[in-house]
Amino acid sequence: MTITKAAILGGGVIGGGWLARLIENGVEVSVYDPDPEAARKLGAVLANADHAYSRLTLAPRGNKGAWRLAGSVAEAVTGAELIVEAVPERLDLKRKVYAEIDAANPIALIASSTSGIMPSDLQAEMTHPGRLLVAHPFNPVYLLPCVELVAGKKTDPANIDRAAAIYEWLGMKPIRVRKEIEAFIADRFLEAVWREGLWLIKDGIGTTQDIDDAIRYGFGLRWAQMGLFETYRLAGGEAGMRHFIAQFGPCLAWPWTKLMNVPELTDELVDMISDQSDAQSGMHSIRELERIRDENLIGIMQVLKVNDWGAGQTLAAYERKLFEQGAVKPAAADLSGPIRTVDRQVPPDWTDYNNHMNEARYGQVFSDATDALMRVIGADSDYIANGLSYFTAEGHIRFIDEVAALEPVYVETQVLGGAGKKMHLFHSFHHADGRLLATGEYLLIHVDLNTRSACEPAPAVAAKLAEVAATHATLVVPEGVGRAVGQKR
Ligand SMILES: NC(=O)c1ccc[n+]([C@@H]2O[C@H](COP(=O)([O-])OP(=O)(O)OC[C@H]3O[C@@H](n4cnc5c(N)ncnc54)[C@H](O)[C@@H]3O)[C@@H](O)[C@H]2O)c1
Repeated sequence: MTITKAAILGGGVIGGGWLARLIENGVEVSVYDPDPEAARKLGAVLANADHAYSRLTLAPRGNKGAWRLAGSVAEAVTGAELIVEAVPERLDLKRKVYAEIDAANPIALIASSTSGIMPSDLQAEMTHPGRLLVAHPFNPVYLLPCVELVAGKKTDPANIDRAAAIYEWLGMKPIRVRKEIEAFIADRFLEAVWREGLWLIKDGIGTTQDIDDAIRYGFGLRWAQMGLFETYRLAGGEAGMRHFIAQFGPCLAWPWTKLMNVPELTDELVDMISDQSDAQSGMHSIRELERIRDENLIGIMQVLKVNDWGAGQTLAAYERKLFEQGAVKPAAADLSGPIRTVDRQVPPDWTDYNNHMNEARYGQVFSDATDALMRVIGADSDYIANGLSYFTAEGHIRFIDEVAALEPVYVETQVLGGAGKKMHLFHSFHHADGRLLATGEYLLIHVDLNTRSACEPAPAVAAKLAEVAATHATLVVPEGVGRAVGQKR
C-alpha cells in the first residue's frame, strides 16, 4: 500500500529516522517540533541516512519526497494519510497531542513510536481512537527493518493490516504483537539484558567494553541472523530444541541472573558506567559512531540478502520494489524515441582509485537499463518467475567521459532489433547536463530458465518488442553502432 502524504510529530532521534525513511520512499512529509533547533538536528539525521541509503542497495533510488517544518500540530497533520507520533515518552504529552490531531484530522492513521506504553492507554481519551496503533521502530529507523505493531482495545483491526502494508512498502518487517503488553516484545527483552549489564558493571565483573565484546564477538553475531530460539535449537545438537531445554532448562532455577532486581543508579554507578564508556568509545564522535554502525548494519544486511535469510529477505523485497518502480514506468514509457531506462545518482562506493566511476559499474548501469527495457516489453519479474528471460550474449562498451560520485546520470535505450529469440539494444549513458559518458551495445538471447537454452519469447513479449523495434527503426542510427574494439572513427 502506498501513501503520498504523512505528518511527523516530534523530530528527534526517532522522528528524524522516520522522516528519512518516508522521504526516501517519495512520501511528502510535514514535521512539527517546537524545538528551535529541530531543523538542524533533522538535517544531521538526514545526512547520515542519505549516506546509508547510497550504500544500501544497487537498485535505483526513487525521487525523494519533499519535507517541511510546520508551525503547529494542526498544520502538520492537515491532509496527511499517516501521522507518526514520536514525541517524548510521556503519556500526558502524547494524549495532548492526540487531542490536537483529533480536532484537525479525524481520519488519518496514527502510529505511535512509543517504546512501551500500551496503545489502550494512549487512545483512552481520543474522540477517534480506532485509527491509533503502536508502530514501535528501532534506531536507526531509516535502516533497521523491524517495526512492532500493537493494537489497543479500541483499534480497528483493519488498521493493523493497513499499517502492515504501508510498512512493508517502506521496506520494513512489521511484527504483529499478538497481545497488548507494556514494552511489547523487543523492549522487554532488551530491558532484561540491560538490567543484567548494569549488575555486571556494579559488581565489577566486567567493564562496558568487556560486556560489549562478550556480545559482539559471540552471541550478538548469532542473534543478528537467527535470533534466540533458532540459535538454541542448534545448541541442542541433532536432538534440537527438546534436548536443549532438557540440558539447560534446570539451571534456570538456580538462577544465574538478577533479572527482577535493579541496581540503584547512584552517582557512583553512573560515573563508573560513563567513564568506562568514554574510555571505550570516547575517541569517536556520536556522528562518527552512527556512520560506523550504519555501515556495519548495511554490510550485515547485504550478506543476509545473499543468503536469502532474515533481514536480508526484507532488503531483497525492498530492492525488488525499487527496481520495479525504477526510472522507467512500463505503462507510461514513451516508446516513440529512445526510452529513458535509468535515472539515478552515482553511488559513492562506485568510484575507484582514480576517483571516478569504475569501469565495472558501467556494465552495471547498462545491465539495469536492459532490465528496465525488459520490463517495458513485459519481460518483468512475473515473466522471469514463470521461467522465461533474456540472457546477454555479447556487449561492447565505449567509455567516453568520466563521472564522479553522487553526480546525476541517466540512460536512454534504443532497440536496434527485436525479432525471434534476439534482442539488440543500444544504451546511451549521459550525465544529467547532457554529456555522453558511455555507450553500450548488447545482443540478448531469449531463454527458457528451466532448460537454460534459447527459445522464442511469449507472444505478448514478442509483439511488444517487435512494435518498439519497428518504431525505433525510424530513428537515426546512433553514432558508434557496430563498432569493434580499436576501430578508428
Ligand atoms: N530513542 C530510541 O531508541 C527509541 C526507539 C524506539 C522508540 N522510541 C520512542 O520514540 C519516541 C520519541 O523518542 P526520541 O528518542 O526520538 O526522543 P527525542 O527526545 O530525541 O525526540 C522527541 C522530540 O519531540 C519533540 N517534542 C516535544 N514536545 C512536542 C510536541 N508537543 N509536539 C511535537 N514534538 C514535540 C522534542 O522537541 C524532541 O525533538 C518516544 O516515545 C520513545 O519512547 C525511542
